[in-house]
Amino acid sequence: MKLERGNLLGLEELTGEEIETILETAESFVEISERPLKKVPVLRGLTVVNLFFEPSTRTRISFEIAEKRLSADTVNFSATTSSTVKGETLKDTARNIESMGIDMLVMRHSAPGAAAYLAGIVDCPVINAGDGPHEHPTQALLDLFTVKRTRSRIAGLNVVIVGDILHSRVARSNVFGFTKLGAKVTVCGPPTMIPPGIEELGVEVSYNLREALPEADVVMMLRIQRERLEDCYFPTLREYSDLFGLDGEKMKLAKGDVTVMHPGPINRGVEMTPEVADGPYSVILEQVKYGLAVRMAVLYLLSGGELSSEDVD
Ligand code: CP
Repeated sequence: MKLERGNLLGLEELTGEEIETILETAESFVEISERPLKKVPVLRGLTVVNLFFEPSTRTRISFEIAEKRLSADTVNFSATTSSTVKGETLKDTARNIESMGIDMLVMRHSAPGAAAYLAGIVDCPVINAGDGPHEHPTQALLDLFTVKRTRSRIAGLNVVIVGDILHSRVARSNVFGFTKLGAKVTVCGPPTMIPPGIEELGVEVSYNLREALPEADVVMMLRIQRERLEDCYFPTLREYSDLFGLDGEKMKLAKGDVTVMHPGPINRGVEMTPEVADGPYSVILEQVKYGLAVRMAVLYLLSGGELSSEDVD
């Protein structure tokens, strides 16, 4: 299995077959994290730089651990302690780092399209770790992988994505990923948080979680992004939570085997109550766990790898 592309910028540009290739490659990497010695030498001698211009816990640490488990040399860049604060441009930053002979760049940035811009500047592969409200491809890939592992399939499932669809890169990437693999996707939230015309992406729209929930095999709750909410999209958090938060009362409307997901970080008591987040239907920590295998697969495939059993022995 091989990926015939130089960068991972978003799931919009990937075919269903390419997504399947990444998910199948990730299967081979799950077991490495369960070994006493969690390391294989497939990226030995390569240097990966993680450029984070926005805060992150899961994605940054997951990429760093994935790189280390593949034996790459890994360097972390934080915008707040870099020459960015002195006014250096992204282009100059990237070209200076590239001139040190690095092999791959992982970047999170608040500007939509920043990863594509970076890919046009440098010669090495670029992985988008989230670009503003545009895409978060490795999050969607790990969500797909978690659903495939939990439900044994993706095609034919009803996936309901709930919350701030307008500002969510996770929602956009998941819409592309789940529809390409044959799931039926419904986006659900207040009308102010559903982009007009989103049906053109092949999804259904609901403004009522209590109506959408009984049909869901998978319900993916999104974080209310207080940092991107400049205008008033709903009267109060309490009203949002009453209508679109997942709690014990609404869970009674769901199927008995529903799968509950959240990309994190969770605003507990807003998107979901602790009893749901930590309850029996939640796969939130599995999402984080499988994120490692998925990111190992992406790093490996973009390094030109073509998986054989010798690579992971
Ligand atoms: N899901 C996600 O991207 O989390 P972080 O912002 O902590 O990386």
